[in-house]
Amino acid sequence: MVAQERRAKTLEEFDVELEALHMRGQWKYDRLLVQVIGGPKPAGIPYLWRWEEVYPKLVEACEIIPESFTARRNFSFLNPGLERGGTTHTLLMGVQMIKPGELAWAHRHTIAALRFVIRGNARVFTVVDGEVCPMEPYDLILTPRWSWHDHHNESDEPAIWLDVLDLPFVIGMNLPFYETYPGDRQQVRRSSEAEYLQARTSTLRPTWERPKREHLPLRYSWKETEAQLRRLWASEGSPYDGLALEYVNPMTGGSTLPTLSCWIQMLRPGEQTKRHRHTSSAVYFVVRGEGKTIVGDEELVWDQHDAFCVPNWAWHQHINRSRTEEAILFSVHDIPILQVLGLYYEEPENSLQRQAAPSVPPVPQREIA
Ligand SMILES: [Fe+2]
Ligand SMILES: [Fe+2]
Repeated sequence: MVAQERRAKTLEEFDVELEALHMRGQWKYDRLLVQVIGGPKPAGIPYLWRWEEVYPKLVEACEIIPESFTARRNFSFLNPGLERGGTTHTLLMGVQMIKPGELAWAHRHTIAALRFVIRGNARVFTVVDGEVCPMEPYDLILTPRWSWHDHHNESDEPAIWLDVLDLPFVIGMNLPFYETYPGDRQQVRRSSEAEYLQARTSTLRPTWERPKREHLPLRYSWKETEAQLRRLWASEGSPYDGLALEYVNPMTGGSTLPTLSCWIQMLRPGEQTKRHRHTSSAVYFVVRGEGKTIVGDEELVWDQHDAFCVPNWAWHQHINRSRTEEAILFSVHDIPILQVLGLYYEEPENSLQRQAAPSVPPVPQREIA
């Protein structure tokens, strides 16, 4: 009997066999081309959430949910271009309203968060790891990863703040640990120690203690932030961001939180920044002023308290539309994640901290008699 000649297997047939074994050859360049070659494609789209649409919904939520389960009456701003949720692919921004007398129970999670206050007063506060942080307008309060936090409104006015979290990043890493506190509110330090951590992170620190350096539950008061912006008003600023300041961790000099960098940025009357793009994404909130941010072909025209996002690797520039008034933007960036991994890039140039340190004056020459 003559042995039948074995027909050569086609590449298509071989590919099908590999697929059945959950393997794929790198010669399938179609997918490789889309995912790897040609640089990053911006994740999500540029989008703007108008305060005139957000605020009425917050008020309505107070009627529809009169007694919130945890008083976390929060909306997330969801990017219409992202299937997995998030305001950008790494950041989630939302807005929250807490009524007089309400308490948001204490809990903690591996998702890092921060609050930027829109409406508040000294009797609205967040307790973070026992530290009482008053929430006055435009204060920034950090609730770092795995820190206990509960929110209180002991005033007679509703309070509103912005929540920004690294939730899409942490969920993407599949690391969402969560724990509720035994009881609805934390023990707080005695009132004389209410500013315990703030006192230990100033420029004068106790010599007899070894202070905590990371995950500090800090409060950056607007009074100090605005004063620093005014102090630097006449500086040149960044050609791409205007007068942009980073809220730093005072113990490390590094980013606000290990995953999040918070900025306050002033665009002086008529200021228009140069166009650039970077591998980081950002979410913005308009503290005051009117302007526009052009992202790719999209014009995001903003007014006070609007919020918007700039996806990663999207060309963008900011413009203050007013010739007489300044514009102030609060923003949160995922830059620290990328910098630690060596994946932070900018085009057309590295502008972040591009200024060299001031040179040291030359040593005076000793006169020779
Ligand atoms: Fe929380
Ligand atoms: Fe930028």
